[in-house]
Amino acid sequence: MSKIILTGVTPSGSSLHVGNYFGALKPLVDLGTAGNQVYCFVSDLHALTTVQDRATLENNVKNVIINYLSCGVEAQNFVFFRQSEVAEHAQLETILTNYVGLGQMKRMHAYKDKLEKGVDTENINMGLFNYPILMAADILLYGAQGVPVGADQKQHVEIARDIAQNFNKKTGTQTLVLPEPIISDQLGRLVGTDGSRKMSKSLGNVIGIFDDYKVIEKQIMNCYTDPKRKSASDPGTVEGNPVFLYHDLWNEDKAEVAELKRRYQAGTVGDVEVKQRLLVAHKKYFAAIRARKGHFEQNPAEVAQILAVGAARARLVAAQTLAKVYKAVGLSAQFVKPEVMVSQPRPVVSFDNFARVEWRVGRVIEASEPAWSKKLIEQKVDFGPLGVRTIFSGLRAWYTAADFTGRNFVYVTNIPPRKMGDFVSEGMIVAATDEMGVPQRWEVAGAAPGTVVG
Ligand code: ADP
Ligand code: TRP
Repeated sequence: MSKIILTGVTPSGSSLHVGNYFGALKPLVDLGTAGNQVYCFVSDLHALTTVQDRATLENNVKNVIINYLSCGVEAQNFVFFRQSEVAEHAQLETILTNYVGLGQMKRMHAYKDKLEKGVDTENINMGLFNYPILMAADILLYGAQGVPVGADQKQHVEIARDIAQNFNKKTGTQTLVLPEPIISDQLGRLVGTDGSRKMSKSLGNVIGIFDDYKVIEKQIMNCYTDPKRKSASDPGTVEGNPVFLYHDLWNEDKAEVAELKRRYQAGTVGDVEVKQRLLVAHKKYFAAIRARKGHFEQNPAEVAQILAVGAARARLVAAQTLAKVYKAVGLSAQFVKPEVMVSQPRPVVSFDNFARVEWRVGRVIEASEPAWSKKLIEQKVDFGPLGVRTIFSGLRAWYTAADFTGRNFVYVTNIPPRKMGDFVSEGMIVAATDEMGVPQRWEVAGAAPGTVVG
């Protein structure tokens, strides 16, 4: 069953290694491919708890954005954005601070660890102390059911759950969804090239993804194998041997892997050859990801566009949750939207003129996001007896092409064709802005294409 999944990524300046990829990124991308709705954001507000140098923060944020995009988090089913571009995260945090006790907060790892290390409370900032509450806001804004995190973050998902439960109980509502952590057992801890400890940048036992191949070759060649093996003709052990573990992960030629294992156990292949094959497989497996990294680095406008669309789509959901929360506690949810304030009253239309507008049900056979526009979604719409028309709608800040395909909406079908870019729009979708400033379409699931509704 498809679920709402959310995860935050701490901005960091370090380059990706295969432990990050198979432990965090690939499982995340797989969740999206499997049909779940995945919200993934760069937690730049959280980063302020430790990084207070502007240039460093900007660099770290840019680095993770490129890394994550290269690995595929801008595919369908993903909403990828920067936490600081959706103000609702901070707004919800303010409310949630009232639904968690000081005692429980003092038991949180990040804070407790500092105390145990003898750090003076004068030197622990309140951002760090409140870290789990902001994280709870991140999760609860989107009604996330599953939260993929490293084992060290499990406690934070549990506190989010406690806060949600407490909030619902105190307000007598079901406003907030209770989240569950998703911790991948087998890959949550990929062993490093030293063969004993978790692969980690700080331990220097990594195999990179984006590094120069000379560097990656060295990392692979220095990898720990079977220490009991003196020469290539000694039978070797495959189980628990990191080189074979890595072969299983990224060598897609399974027949070759099986053959290498067989020869290794029989003592008919040397470690050097096994490692050389591992390097070749690395080049093949990560080629597309490396190419995408180059592409995004060369096209900052495209990256900015993906983030803008991501933030707009995230806000669509976050604002609705926040409004529910405000109402549940008795605050005003009449948020003033700047768009509402600046829009000018339009001239009066006569009743007769308005009655001439024709509204018809159209079935979207196909929808796409044309590269030449940032705002438009192109739709091929079936109007039954009227035939198929091409219609452009300026709704891309809120919806994707996939939000249209195969669905029936109401369109105005008797306005003159209108030029948009080099194309012509033969009609207009009916959408009305709601209290949150979000254009809501008029969906009529059951109706036959072409039916007149107004
Ligand atoms: P590092 O330890 O190299 O500094 P991070 O702590 O920045 O890596 O980890 C970023 C993400 O990658 C986290 O979600 C973490 O769970 C995952 N990750 C890091 N190292 C591994 C590993 N060896 N095995 C599995 N996942 C890992
Ligand atoms: N604290 C997480 C980490 O360090 C990052 C994060 C921030 C997060 N907000 C989140 C993870 C919400 C999951 C859900 O890895």
